[in-house]
Amino acid sequence: MNSGFTDRLNIKIAEVEAVVREYSPKLRTEDNLLYEAMNYSLLAGGKRLRPLLMLETYRLFSGSKEELVRPFAAALEMIHTYSLIHDDLPAMDNDDLRRGKPTNHKVYGEAVAILAGDGLLNLAAETAGKAFDYCETIEEYKRVGMAISALFSYSGAGGMIGGQILDMLSEEGKKEKNEDFFLTMYDLKTGGLIKAAFVIGAILAGGSKEDISAMESTGASLGLVFQLQDDLLDIKGDEAKLGKPLHSDERNNKLTYLKLLGEAKALEIMEANNKSIYKNLENICHKNCSYDGFILEFLEYLKSCLLYTSD
Ligand code: IPE
Ligand code: IPE
Ligand code: MG
Ligand code: MG
Ligand code: MG
Repeated sequence: MNSGFTDRLNIKIAEVEAVVREYSPKLRTEDNLLYEAMNYSLLAGGKRLRPLLMLETYRLFSGSKEELVRPFAAALEMIHTYSLIHDDLPAMDNDDLRRGKPTNHKVYGEAVAILAGDGLLNLAAETAGKAFDYCETIEEYKRVGMAISALFSYSGAGGMIGGQILDMLSEEGKKEKNEDFFLTMYDLKTGGLIKAAFVIGAILAGGSKEDISAMESTGASLGLVFQLQDDLLDIKGDEAKLGKPLHSDERNNKLTYLKLLGEAKALEIMEANNKSIYKNLENICHKNCSYDGFILEFLEYLKSCLLYTSD
């Protein structure tokens, strides 16, 4: 890995960490278990992929007022973190390790974990709304309004939550599953929040309708690649590096898209989608000469660092 890129990546990740911390739940009383549980998962690290992509997309479209996008970057990471807390619950994937630490319910119990997830979801709405404080023109108010609507629709019943319910129905033996079922499930459960990152970055920076729709389809492709990669990692990853348990899908009898396709075909699909993601973003980068191209390097890095390489 090129050391110039690694240095820049570390700076960008530190910047995202600072944004997440800035908006993280602040203890309102000395002993507040709910706030502690919310921060336990939110501040446990993770790749911070989604907020990073949102900030970079904002820059890609020459956004010039980062105060508008920062609250959204934090809000998206809050929604992602709550989705992981709930995803790990016994009623869902029943996992014990997340981001290298015992899962929220293992430390605080199920009731607190459910409420910590709910709390992060509500805090996300409150945080995204803070972007209005920085609006000075009607156009900025309009963009923030559109971005809030996008955030909650990509993460809601027609987005991430809708994908999670399909995932719950994907256990082996429950109903016949075909390719379309999995494409929809992955587009919603994983594509949802990645599309939100790209689309919100573009909306807030003032991208055109065409730009926004190009970013949406790029996010959909990345969501598919990312989830297939996650499925592979569940079988062949390194638990210590992943910070979550292997074989969760098998233990839960999940019939994944990876399982339906087989590894060779899945890798082909990932490669084809990676090419189209790169091409879409490269085209946009070319239109914006002042952008430094970091998002392209980051996507290359993601392919190599997702900690799975086929043997
Ligand atoms: C995990 O997402 C859930 C999936 C959509 C596969 P990440 O792999 O981005 O998790 P963190 O944020 O790095 O912990
Ligand atoms: C979860 O997919 C996606 C979410 C919306 C949380 P997985 O259940 O495969 O994610 P991991 O493997 O637990 O991170
Ligand atoms: Mg799951
Ligand atoms: Mg899971
Ligand atoms: Mg998984």
